[in-house]
Amino acid sequence: MSLLRSLADRDRVFDFLVPAASPVDVRHGPILYLEDVTVSFDGFKAIDGLDLTIDDGELRCIIGPNGAGKTTMMDIITGKTRPDTGKVWFGSRHDLLAMNEPEIASLGIGRKFQKPTVFEALSVFENLELAMAADKRILPTLMACLTGEVRDRIDEVLATIGLAGLRHRPAGILSHGQKQWLEIGMLLMQRPRLLLVDEPVAGMTEQEMERTAELLTGLAGAGKQSVVVVEHDMGFVRSIARQVTVLHQGSVLAEGSMDRISHDPKVIEVYLGAEEAA
Ligand SMILES: Nc1ncnc2c1ncn2[C@@H]1O[C@H](COP(=O)(O)OP(=O)(O)O)[C@@H](O)[C@H]1O
Ligand SMILES: [Mg+2]
Repeated sequence: MSLLRSLADRDRVFDFLVPAASPVDVRHGPILYLEDVTVSFDGFKAIDGLDLTIDDGELRCIIGPNGAGKTTMMDIITGKTRPDTGKVWFGSRHDLLAMNEPEIASLGIGRKFQKPTVFEALSVFENLELAMAADKRILPTLMACLTGEVRDRIDEVLATIGLAGLRHRPAGILSHGQKQWLEIGMLLMQRPRLLLVDEPVAGMTEQEMERTAELLTGLAGAGKQSVVVVEHDMGFVRSIARQVTVLHQGSVLAEGSMDRISHDPKVIEVYLGAEEAA
């Protein structure tokens, strides 16, 4: 009965099948804007007067030593942590500080955590299919009425993440790198406008890192996704970086091209120096 009712309610069952026009308004400026954001944990300022501007379609790398506030920054953008002060805007229309986590996600902000969380017993295809369903309880319904549109989207994403040949294999047999790509694919199913990716290449082979660099640089672009990558591996950052932001003690220490950053004495002192000495 309740299944019938949910089928009868077209909006609830089918709205995810039609890509909604993204509500984000970037006509008058950046896709993401943080101004003077501060958050304290027990009196300790993990984020301290942070300003950050990400343009539509940009690929931005965020680096910085452990404890610099990188993960906390992502927590603030996604609504997991509330800052004490500051502004956080998505386009010019959405004040993210007035929204909760699910509302922010539904605006088109996708977050990839470090550890892959794919469903190992399901096939690659089914993982992508599942990612499309806003309400996971309707999966059986979904399976029964996969539209051409959803199939096309899955094919598109499979090609993007390079797993088309493995579509019918269980996700459990994938390598660590392939699982990371699948999880990025699961985020892409929802057609996000902004992707936040935390340390994507940790534990990957050289070859997987190269493929990931291609994937992330290919995703970014105006009208497609903007991508923010937090990463420790400097070789990897060098291979994909356009604009780099260096965080230190909760605020921006330096910002610019990788070349400029790697010659900045302040950056060398707090980060690159330590990296090269390690
Ligand atoms: N929930 C929390 N409670 C207390 N301290 C926290 C919490 N989250 C982060 N911190 C502290 O805030 C600082 C920044 O942490 P984090 O954002 O994880 O840094 P990064 O990701 O750059 O390594 C660290 O000193 C960390 O110990
Ligand atoms: Mg972190």
